[in-house]
Amino acid sequence: NYLKIFSPATVANVSCGFDSLGFAVDTIGDEMTFTKTQEKGVKITNITGANLTYDVDKNAASAVVKKMLEDANADFGVALTIHKGFSPGSGLGSSAASAAGAAFGTNKLLNNVFSNLELTKFAMFGEKVACGSAIADNVAAAIYGGFVLVRSYEPLEIIKLPVPNELRAVAIHPQIEVKTKDAREVLPSKIDLNDAVTQWANVGGLISGLYTNNYQLISNSLVDIIVEPHRKKLIPFFDNVKNSALKADALGAGISGSGPTIFALCKGDEIANKVHQSIKETYKETGIDFEMYISKVN
Ligand code: HSE
Repeated sequence: NYLKIFSPATVANVSCGFDSLGFAVDTIGDEMTFTKTQEKGVKITNITGANLTYDVDKNAASAVVKKMLEDANADFGVALTIHKGFSPGSGLGSSAASAAGAAFGTNKLLNNVFSNLELTKFAMFGEKVACGSAIADNVAAAIYGGFVLVRSYEPLEIIKLPVPNELRAVAIHPQIEVKTKDAREVLPSKIDLNDAVTQWANVGGLISGLYTNNYQLISNSLVDIIVEPHRKKLIPFFDNVKNSALKADALGAGISGSGPTIFALCKGDEIANKVHQSIKETYKETGIDFEMYISKVN
């Protein structure tokens, strides 16, 4: 009747895979508790770590719980607590962690009636409540874990991809907020065919690299010529961070989701530590506050 869960932060897009690739990390995330109540419906009893609404129809987590209880015709209600482990507007899938955690936890109380695909759809509803668009890349990564591909939105199809053993993620979160909505508005609605060819070839290369543990291929494919050139303007010193990561032997670096967090993928702990150090020194000089994370892809 009581459940405590961890819901991970996620890196969406992963350079070439705009709105279709994502991975989960294991060191950053939210903690949520679920308590069954006799009274039907959902209420939020406590939120810590961020200033979020207690309005159950507007909060990404409670909106998901409410919808699932209704759809499953549950004869009980849920009291929810949310502890945010990282900030909204970071580009690390904050609303997705809330929405996916809510879906996962509620499903446990419902004796796992819903599949992971159905949970992803519920969590997408939470994303829509939080930021206006039902994007699947963050929520699918949080629910399935590891690396995922959103192969299709209509109908929704999620492919869980393998994660090479030594893959590590380093992330830097400059302490500014970029709203997903704003970061989507700077994108072009049409793209050049040659650019599209480059981009989808890189997606194929990245996925092939994940399946074959080919770090060089992963590195060659972590390129984004379509979204990054437009969005990097919203992120102070993006190029400095990227160059600093690459100089320290990162496989690649790019914008995490819609930013401002910048991620770097690395092979092994040693290089991840070196990349962490290099980015840290680079960003210290900017005078902008930041937080950094180092994590497995999990
Ligand atoms: N794929 C999304 C974007 C992630 O880049 O806008 C943020 O929800």
